[in-house]
Amino acid sequence: TPTYRIAAIAGDGIGREVLPEGLRVLEAAAKRFGFTLEVRHIEWASCDYYQAHGQMMPDDWKAQLEGFDAIYFGAVGWPATVPDHVSLWGSLLKFRREFDQYVNLRPVRLFEGVPCPLAGRKPGDIDYLVVRENTEGEYTALGGVMYEGTEREIVIQESVFSRHGADRVLKFAFEAARARQRKHLTVATKSNGIAISMPWWDGRADAVGRDYPDVTVDKQHIDILSARFVLQPTRFDVVVASNLFGDILSDLGPATAGTIGLAPSANLNPERKFPSLFEPVHGSAPDIYGKNIANPVAMIWSGALMLDFLTQGQGAGRAAHDAIVKAIERVLVEGPRTPDLGGKASTTELGQAIAALVAAG
Ligand code: NAD
Ligand code: IPM
Ligand code: MN
Repeated sequence: TPTYRIAAIAGDGIGREVLPEGLRVLEAAAKRFGFTLEVRHIEWASCDYYQAHGQMMPDDWKAQLEGFDAIYFGAVGWPATVPDHVSLWGSLLKFRREFDQYVNLRPVRLFEGVPCPLAGRKPGDIDYLVVRENTEGEYTALGGVMYEGTEREIVIQESVFSRHGADRVLKFAFEAARARQRKHLTVATKSNGIAISMPWWDGRADAVGRDYPDVTVDKQHIDILSARFVLQPTRFDVVVASNLFGDILSDLGPATAGTIGLAPSANLNPERKFPSLFEPVHGSAPDIYGKNIANPVAMIWSGALMLDFLTQGQGAGRAAHDAIVKAIERVLVEGPRTPDLGGKASTTELGQAIAALVAAG
């Protein structure tokens, strides 16, 4: 039977509560669909590890992870003990960069049974894919502070966009749009205010788009695009965005679809040269950690995306993906529900319910 080697990294906060539920569901899927998951639990890449070792990960982290087929990741961040830029640049952002996971796929969907904060919206009205550039753009540690501590203090923070980096994620987004029924791509921009990188980004979208005459394209400035996520979500099919814009859109979209507790993500190295990483969009949620009330669906759905990617959408992997998504759909209608969905159920109860449905078929 096919065997997949998975590095499981819980990280911090509710990462530790939702990861076990994700694994529970994946195990149920493996059993039913006839494949084996070899899971290795990794305790580093957490703020606890940082407190003990003064760094987020061991020096040989890359060598340790390289051989896995995928990384299944909870969340990192515990700002009470470690500054966020230290914990995230020391772990997740390193994975994305060093494993060249340049596509961050973040589907957004309003499910049946989930209360929608937008008036009059029904399932089907919110159903799009955010394709976020994941290795460059506004996320850099380039720049510095001058005249620190004086009235003249200046801070410079550079952005980096490369033709190679932009073209490959744009291409991925065009392909994703082409594969969907509506074949429509929205390009997030801000070419009115960000006077160098964003007009350039628009130009790269035009250039890459020449190979996709069957895909309709509209460019929208990020401000009005955000407003339309709320006011006119039916306009969207695939949305491609720079690193920062994609980050913001991928919390906003799921919030309009009820709760960020459902939102999955796939950090992909499409060439499969390095392991890809699958994680919820949300973070470690210190405000609810320890109560076992976090919604595990984002983690579980991310696991389904992992199976789909590992098996290239073929055979047992695709079947397992579909079965997990079906089980999620059913639990969202029938319950149990965690508090973010208006219920009183625990993280564990939701995980168990979904696993039972996957096992039963
Ligand atoms: P967050 O996503 O952790 O939490 C935002 C809000 O959403 C909180 O009120 C939280 O309780 C709620 N929430 C999040 N996930 C939920 C779930 N599964 N079920 C129910 N409610 C949920 O964002 P934040 O508060 O900005 O960040 C907290 C920490 O997590 C910070 O250290 C931040 O840097 C980190 N973070 C990490 C990741 C990641 O590892 N990928 C992503 C985002 C934030
Ligand atoms: C996400 C997170 C990260 C990001 C943070 C924790 C660095 O918000 O995965 O969306 O901004 O990419
Ligand atoms: Mn984010």
